[in-house]
Amino acid sequence: MNQFLIAPSIIAADFTRLADEIAAVQSAGADWLHMDIMDGHFVPTITIGPLFVEACKRASKLPLDVHLMISNPNQYLEDFAKAGADNITVHVETCLDLPQTIQKIKSLGCTAGVTLNPATPVSALDAVLPLVDLVLVMSVQPGFSGQSFMPEMIGKVEEVRNKLNALRSTAHLEVDGGISSETLPLMLNAGANVFVAGNAVFKHPQGAGEGIRVLRQCVAPA
Ligand code: DX5
Ligand code: ZN
Repeated sequence: MNQFLIAPSIIAADFTRLADEIAAVQSAGADWLHMDIMDGHFVPTITIGPLFVEACKRASKLPLDVHLMISNPNQYLEDFAKAGADNITVHVETCLDLPQTIQKIKSLGCTAGVTLNPATPVSALDAVLPLVDLVLVMSVQPGFSGQSFMPEMIGKVEEVRNKLNALRSTAHLEVDGGISSETLPLMLNAGANVFVAGNAVFKHPQGAGEGIRVLRQCVAPA
């Protein structure tokens, strides 16, 4: 059983060799595929949608960890569930009724995650912490891969970890943005157990498989 889970962020992959890139991370031991859905409205970028998720579902055996950086996510939950999402994570900033959205994600047969922008306090999640299967802490501003890690988010991970422990929650604590062999250990120590990595994996000079291996080896086995 891996001490921590690695979820490569597919938008950093070479889309002209998508199946090869997925095969490389899969055989190197990635645990999930992280799918960054961006609508150009909640965040400035437009990336991928349900059709791309469905293609990745056909090309991979890995669970698909869908991160919705979109306005009105409720409108699209069914499309992503049908496309093959295993987990769907929504931003607290985009949901008018977060408990209802979490409930709807679960009713579609997916695990439910919630995430928050760097500027949003953890208290914004208090109402749903007992309900979620995953909390994603952003360590960059959502919208782009390849940004610099925000060390001030380490304290936020500790705060979420303490709240989840107080609830005896088994929810995953995932971090996303600027994760590398330098920053992963910091966030592991703070209480995260799932690590999204885009550039550290898919832009590794020796290829995506080596990117995974470097992250896996950056922490001595417990
Ligand atoms: C940013 C995305 C992240 C990003 C990660 O909005 O949610 O998943 O693609 O890429 P890196 O690891 O390169 O920061
Ligand atoms: Zn993401």
